[in-house]
Amino acid sequence: MVGARPNFIKLAPVARALAARGARHVIVHTGQHYDPEMSEAFFRDLDLPRPDHALEVGSGSHARQTAAIMERLEPVCEAAAPDVVLVYGDVNSTVAAALVAAKLGIAVGHVEAGLRSGDRTMPEELNRVVTDHVADLLLAPSRDAVANLRGEGLPAARIHFVGNVMIDSLAAALAAARALDAPARYGVRPGDYTVVTLHRPGNVDDPATLCELLGTLASLAREGPVLFPVHPRTQARIRTLGVSVDGRDGPRLVRPLPYLDMLGLVADAALVITDSGGLQEETTWLGVPCVTVRPNTERPITCTAGTNRLVSPRREAIREAARTARAARPPAPPAIERWDGCTGERIAAVVCDGARFE
Ligand code: UD1
Repeated sequence: MVGARPNFIKLAPVARALAARGARHVIVHTGQHYDPEMSEAFFRDLDLPRPDHALEVGSGSHARQTAAIMERLEPVCEAAAPDVVLVYGDVNSTVAAALVAAKLGIAVGHVEAGLRSGDRTMPEELNRVVTDHVADLLLAPSRDAVANLRGEGLPAARIHFVGNVMIDSLAAALAAARALDAPARYGVRPGDYTVVTLHRPGNVDDPATLCELLGTLASLAREGPVLFPVHPRTQARIRTLGVSVDGRDGPRLVRPLPYLDMLGLVADAALVITDSGGLQEETTWLGVPCVTVRPNTERPITCTAGTNRLVSPRREAIREAARTARAARPPAPPAIERWDGCTGERIAAVVCDGARFE
């Protein structure tokens, strides 16, 4: 069961591993993300089969979106009667599907279990907590996630330290992404540009914060190219501000990028500035300096072992962090336990064979 852009990246390695075992795998797309750039392009780049069911729920308030998914998913689950419903990440589709399956008495497997920011003002944090507490298979990406689950009293028998499935997709796609030569196609030189993504409500919904961030990007763009693929939520907020951001010397705003183009650009970037969860992990694995515009992260390993640093949405703080991050670029990417490209296979082993990974 998937619904939003980051889910598709996590689904691909699991779908491949289940197909290799000949397991029956029904893919349901809730339609939380529906723009071609946010959905279809990812199915194409990740070589995913077409979903078996498209629930087409679209956008709405949290309650409406979650309720619409639950209502439309229930009959699909009843008809398919699966042994396990796999849910991914921390989006509204994740928690909605976990609740539907759990209430039907179907086992729930949560891919990316145990991540915690400790910040319940983030909708994703509530989605994580609820999903983990109704799930039967807690498929954790890192040891800190395992510790969080144990700390919340979840039984050890449910917890499997399988590793980070997003890294499976990254490792599998990197050569193909590089072959597309995205930097040249976007008119930038490898090692000489910054990639930016910002879409969290905390950064883009408040006009003053968004203005400060856009001003920061404009100031950084005077020192070197800044490429900013803009999420639809952010695009809508920028439009209501009514300011022009994309000047000749300003950051270059582009539509959301397909997976391989984005990966190719991130792999050769001097710096990434983001508030995405996935990019914190991808930059860590690639050894690319990353500045995360958030007060906290549910992925602390990217700061302790990786290239990530957290910063407030203030111009001087971001400029200072950008300087420090670039100067601290590691000579080689860090090796993180079980971020090894084999997580999809471990998940399939847990689901199909009852394997344990501690
Ligand atoms: C969602 C996830 C977030 C994740 C992000 C990845 C939740 C609570 N949030 O945030 O954790 O990091 O996806 O991208 O699930 N929109 C479009 N076209 C689309 C999708 C969205 O125009 O294909 C616009 C709509 O105006 C919509 C808004 O973006 O209201 C927000 O979309 P939504 O799915 O609610 O949350 P995201 O901000 O995308």
